[in-house]
Amino acid sequence: MNETYRKVFENNREWIRTNLEKDPDFFKHLAKGQSPDFLYIGCADSRVPANEIMGLEPGDVFVHRNIANLVVNTDMNAQSVIQYAVEHLKVKHVVVCGHYNCGGVAAAMGNSNLGLIDGWLREIRDVYRTHADALNAIEDQHDRYNRLIELNVLEQCFNVMKTAFVQKSYAANQFPQVHGWVYDLANGELVDLDFDFEGSLKKIQEVYDITK
Ligand code: CO
Repeated sequence: MNETYRKVFENNREWIRTNLEKDPDFFKHLAKGQSPDFLYIGCADSRVPANEIMGLEPGDVFVHRNIANLVVNTDMNAQSVIQYAVEHLKVKHVVVCGHYNCGGVAAAMGNSNLGLIDGWLREIRDVYRTHADALNAIEDQHDRYNRLIELNVLEQCFNVMKTAFVQKSYAANQFPQVHGWVYDLANGELVDLDFDFEGSLKKIQEVYDITK
C-alpha cells in the first residue's frame, strides 16, 4: 500500500519533466489563469477521467464530479460550480456526462438500504418515476439500465438549464450550450446523446423562466 502511495509522487515528478520537455513555460502559462471552454459535470467513478476521455489538457476543462453526475437544486457545490463557470469563466459548453455501468444508477434500481447515499440516489429514482412507462416497456434488464443512465443525463441537462445563470447567459451571449454525453467504459467511446438544447430550453422556460 505504501508503495502505491509513494509512486504517486514519483509519477508527479515524471509528469513535470515530460511537460517541461514539451514546453518550458507549461506551468508558467497555467499559473496565469484559466479560460476553459468546457464545464464538465460527470460521475466520480475512477474509470471516467474527464480530461483524458476528452483528450484535453490542464486549463481546458472546468470539472465537477459526484456520484452519478447529478445536478441538484439544493447542492451548493454543484450550483456554485455552474454559476462560476458560466458567469465568470464564460464557458461555451456545459456537458453532463454519464457512463454505462454506473454503480450509482445500478444502486438506484435496486432495493438495498445503503444509508446516507439513498437520499442522493433518490434523484435517480425520481428520473425513473418520470419515465416509468418508457423504461418499464424495455424488457431486457440491461437495456433498461442503459436507458436510465441516458435519461438521467438528459434530466440533469434540464436541471442545468433551470438555473438563472444559464438562462441569462444564453439570452445575452448565445452560450453556453448544454450537451448530454454518455461514456462507454467497455470501449472508451464518448457518445453524444444529441440533446436538443434550443428546443429544450424553450420548453424549460415555459415553466422555469427566471430571467426577468
Ligand atoms: Co457512475
